[in-house]
Amino acid sequence: MSKTSEFPFLKGITDKLNRPVRDLRISVTDRCNFRCTYCMPAEIFGEKYEFLPRPHILSFEEIERLAKIFAEAGVSKLRITGGEPLVRANLPELIASLSAIDGIDDIAMTTNGYLLAKYAQELKDAGLNRLTISLDSIDEDIFKKMSGRPQGPKNTLEGIKVASELGFDPIKINVVVQRGVNDHTLVDTARYFKGTGAIVRFIEFMDVGTKNGWELSQVVTSKDVVEMIGAEFPLEPVDANYDGEVASRYRYLDGEGEIGVISSVSEPFCGSCSRARLSTDGKLVTCLFATGGTDLKSALRSGASDTEIAEIIAKVWTGRDDRYSDLRSKDTKFKAGSSGDGDKVEMYYIGG
Ligand code: GTP
Ligand code: 5AD
Ligand code: SF4
Ligand code: SF4
Repeated sequence: MSKTSEFPFLKGITDKLNRPVRDLRISVTDRCNFRCTYCMPAEIFGEKYEFLPRPHILSFEEIERLAKIFAEAGVSKLRITGGEPLVRANLPELIASLSAIDGIDDIAMTTNGYLLAKYAQELKDAGLNRLTISLDSIDEDIFKKMSGRPQGPKNTLEGIKVASELGFDPIKINVVVQRGVNDHTLVDTARYFKGTGAIVRFIEFMDVGTKNGWELSQVVTSKDVVEMIGAEFPLEPVDANYDGEVASRYRYLDGEGEIGVISSVSEPFCGSCSRARLSTDGKLVTCLFATGGTDLKSALRSGASDTEIAEIIAKVWTGRDDRYSDLRSKDTKFKAGSSGDGDKVEMYYIGG
């Protein structure tokens, strides 16, 4: 039996383009133990870089309180992101409290996997349903180059193995594809995971944030990726698992699993975007490419009631008309070269 809503005005809200809110991505830290060149380049994020001070970061109680209100608005899926979520202390406690929320039926996490072997069991016990692990190349040197760390993929691969043995299924592997950087290793990465049950998803390099020097010439389209992998291991397209799935699916004809491609640049999917994002410091961000967000933390900390917070969320979502990637694909400025936009929020602050 479904329970009555505490906030009837929130139920079934849609934005200006008629999109509901189904998926909340929560960034639990802006810190990371990697320095991926496209996200937190080491030359900018050095020893002296000042991440958010502790008091600015939402507490687990604050995150839980907001997640409950989002669940009333229609969110059934949560994704825990960062930065690197596993560098936040006691994370399984947060997962446990989120998994107890009425209406939340799927909790996933995106991690670089470095600390996963250590925490996988606790995460599973706390109620984490799914894992996505970022791993841009199986090649030792390319991995080191892209992750900005000298250790290579060993720990990440160990984390994947442990998680898989614990029954996380399917495990997804995110590969950001950059021309001239890791595109020559895609087939090897696919081969490594083929037949293991893990689903490798190749992601078109996007112009998120302001620090990765994005240029259109660095993007390898999903079409080219499918051709490249398909030439080695024949593939056929498969229907989406659900409406609005970000990845397009392809299965190996020999039955040894599937891959996905995420075409945010060449074939944007804004039309079905039902994703809201909660930044580390409690801002509600309605697009990966937004230049700002709505401060929920101040409301939380100044004694606002749940109804008042629900009203802010409803106002933001019903006023939302974001479709950045759709517009970019029609914009000749982007087709010519770099994005040149200096104000966008950074990916490590709102998650992927
Ligand atoms: P599931 O289908 O639930 O497994 O998740 P997902 O495919 O949405 O997973 P994930 O969060 O791992 O998304 C994969 C990648 O797709 C992200 O790292 C981003 O690069 C890209 N992506 C996800 N959501 C969006 C979005 O709303 N807009 C754009 N432009 N890219 C997105
Ligand atoms: N383009 C595409 N994907 C990106 N990610 C981070 N930055 C980018 C970018 N510029 C992905 C990472 C990770 C997730 C957090 O977001 O691969 O899987
Ligand atoms: Fe860290 Fe993920 Fe950003 Fe890499 S992409 S620096 S692992 S937050
Ligand atoms: Fe959603 Fe913005 Fe991504 Fe479009 S660009 S799919 S609106 S987050």
